[in-house]
Amino acid sequence: MALSLPMQGLSNEQVLDHLRVLGGHDVNWRDHRAFGLVYHHSDAHTKLMQEAHNLFLSTNGLNPMAFKSLRRMEHEVVRISAGLFHGDDATVGTMSSGGTESILLAMLAYRQHARSHRKSIRHPEVIVPESAHAAFYKAGEYFDIKVISVPLQKDYRADVDAMAARINRNTIALVGSAPCYPYGVIDPIAEIAALGLKHGLPVHVDACLGGFLLPFVERLTPEERIADIPHFDFRVPGVTSISADLHKYGYAAKGASVILYSDMAYLRHQFSASTDWCGGVYVSPTLAGTRPGGAIAGAWAALHSLGEEGYVSNARAAMETAKAFIAGINAIPELEVLGDPAVTIVAYGGRGPGVGAYALGDQLEARGWHVDRLQRPESLHMILNPGHLHVADVYLADLREAVAYVKTHRDAAFEGSAPMYGLIAKAPLRKLVKKQVFGIVEQMYSATGGGSAAELSAESAEAGDAPQEGAIPSLPPLLIGAMRVKARLRRLFGRA
Ligand SMILES: Cc1ncc(COP(=O)(O)O)c(C=O)c1O
Repeated sequence: MALSLPMQGLSNEQVLDHLRVLGGHDVNWRDHRAFGLVYHHSDAHTKLMQEAHNLFLSTNGLNPMAFKSLRRMEHEVVRISAGLFHGDDATVGTMSSGGTESILLAMLAYRQHARSHRKSIRHPEVIVPESAHAAFYKAGEYFDIKVISVPLQKDYRADVDAMAARINRNTIALVGSAPCYPYGVIDPIAEIAALGLKHGLPVHVDACLGGFLLPFVERLTPEERIADIPHFDFRVPGVTSISADLHKYGYAAKGASVILYSDMAYLRHQFSASTDWCGGVYVSPTLAGTRPGGAIAGAWAALHSLGEEGYVSNARAAMETAKAFIAGINAIPELEVLGDPAVTIVAYGGRGPGVGAYALGDQLEARGWHVDRLQRPESLHMILNPGHLHVADVYLADLREAVAYVKTHRDAAFEGSAPMYGLIAKAPLRKLVKKQVFGIVEQMYSATGGGSAAELSAESAEAGDAPQEGAIPSLPPLLIGAMRVKARLRRLFGRA
């Protein structure tokens, strides 16, 4: 379906009105009803981000000679980050558009580095703990790197012995997270790095989530923290690169991350140069061509406006928030927090088989919360910011209600979206799930898939209802029916 341009452009006011209406259908993060995607510091800080971004809205970091301001800001953001992670004068890096790009760049750099130094490598492999972010698999697909995913220890941290067992002549790098996205625990970085040193392999630390939080939590008193923070950065011998997102706990405008290396010997392999192109000599340091100056200026502005004190006091408030949620969840006998979260990323699920996390998720959504779900084990996921402290009591009250509902309505696990999530997590036919998910994405990006205003209004009219299956990837109805029957039978025979 082709859409045509309005013959005459709309007035600025009309355009903005339309945008406001569209934005009105988004998740309600302003009232702290969502736990991820948005990292909000304060309205005043957001205003500063908008102004800083606007000042450099039209600029382009692709040519640092033309925009010396951006070169300077990027350099300072990188140097400040290198200082936070205890790098030295050899530490180098670039900014990127986000955690995924930083991870893609590191994996690309290690592949290229291995190719130029270890001719025997046939098919490069990277070893990651199972909890490593999906961006590593994306890097694998993009750059033809085999990603070896290794099961975790019982406490959800990387199992370093299991990683060691997978090292072979094709291994090009090892990975650990600080903390990982699913469970919020910090992998044993010192042990992974020691393994790297032993085998002469580079070690990447994914601190996309924790990079601009952990250094400031370290400065708190033990009573203020919820856990000790082990060294995760360049203080650990063997760590050769760190990705850290400014647009998460750095509270920068979206589109800002850093990728740092212990040495130019690695960084140089992420650069690309086309010297024979008829369009001229074309050099680019990251994946993007045009690099939006607003994101660089926003990151510079966030670091300089919050400063050390601002980040430390934010870390203190974030820890208070995490304590309130963790204590509140653990006080509900039917629930338990998974592992020992290091900071503000918390996953929880039912203690026994009686209370399914996906059924709880449906109940929380019916009460106006935006819920994220994990697949293994069945659990709910939260990324907390200080603003969530304002809603901790309401959330926990809703959670207690949800638990009571799920306990007394055993069918809750077979209604709403719960069976669908259960199915996706457990379906043995992973290829089929992938095919279906691709189908949904293709539909979303097809000529008719944008979501018209009418559809948006219809969706919002339904928003008060329990979540619909259509809101999440749908699988063939026959398969769903079969899985439901199977689940009911198992329950009837006491094996649920
Ligand atoms: C640990 C970790 N690494 C990488 C990423 C990817 O970051 P982005 O979404 O900015 O690409 C995330 C995102 O949540 C993350 O939690």
